[in-house]
Amino acid sequence: MSEKQSSKVIAPSLIGRAGGESGTFSLIDGKATAATIKAEIKEEVERIVAAGGKRPHLAAVLVGHDGGSETYVKNKVLACEACGFQSTLLRFEDDITEAELLACVDRLNNDPDVDGFIVQLPLPKHIDEQKVIEAIDYRKDVDGFHPINVGRVAIGLPAFISATPKGILELLRRYNVETKGKKCVILGRSNIVGKPMSQLMMQKGVDATVTVCHSRSTTLKEECLQADIIIAAIGQPAFLKGDMVKPGVTVIDVGTTRVPDAIRKSGFRLQGDVDFDAVAPLASKITPVPGGVGPMTICMLMQNTLAAGKHEYYD
Ligand code: GUN
Repeated sequence: MSEKQSSKVIAPSLIGRAGGESGTFSLIDGKATAATIKAEIKEEVERIVAAGGKRPHLAAVLVGHDGGSETYVKNKVLACEACGFQSTLLRFEDDITEAELLACVDRLNNDPDVDGFIVQLPLPKHIDEQKVIEAIDYRKDVDGFHPINVGRVAIGLPAFISATPKGILELLRRYNVETKGKKCVILGRSNIVGKPMSQLMMQKGVDATVTVCHSRSTTLKEECLQADIIIAAIGQPAFLKGDMVKPGVTVIDVGTTRVPDAIRKSGFRLQGDVDFDAVAPLASKITPVPGGVGPMTICMLMQNTLAAGKHEYYD
């Protein structure tokens, strides 16, 4: 879950307009934070290599030609370069059989030079995604999707944490958002974002009181109106409106839906799950789309790869 990078993140008329308890809102700049973290990772990698250690190596498996997946994987390879990692991209046509893909996973599991790898999702319908995820050696599962990593995160053990929730937690920390005893509402219950995010927000040290709302929730608006922190990962463009938030709220927007935009060369723009223009004036802190959560997701994949290279969680 990454996104196209852009320097344009906010309508100038909105910057600093009254809102929130302090009278202004500030942007949580994921793009700048990710750049800082990638520079920190590169420094560490060069120290490791200078001391005779191994350069971390991430492999990415891409099946088919989905536009979004192509962009995400390209950005992951570019991030590897920025961090001083070795990277390998393995491409397959979308008529690859499940058995062939599982054989590829097996080769990567057994390749001592590859520290971690990802299989970009979604996969073609004839391939069982869960079967592929479970075939990945959990010690190389830098996406944090394998049930062993998911389970270890749930009970607070060291493990690879899914990159988007990990990146959001890092943003909250770096922007000094108070979480202890605060009410956090998460919109969406996906395995990649909503569920792991709820566990991270309630873990000891973060200490938020967490509510997860989803498409069948009947009190979603009421829950949002009480929230100190809202994490919107429901996959519906501009879902969170101004009349659903209380003044001073911190808003994290995970949405990246491509909506048609004739003005752009690409023919589309990325729209978050938050109606930014309506919500920002009420918020104390808010992430833009693009330039918020997306760059952090890739950056956390890099952190996980560095951890894999250092055998930080597993031997
Ligand atoms: N597809 C969308 N987001 C992700 C991700 O974080 N990892 C993988 N492997 N596929 C994805």
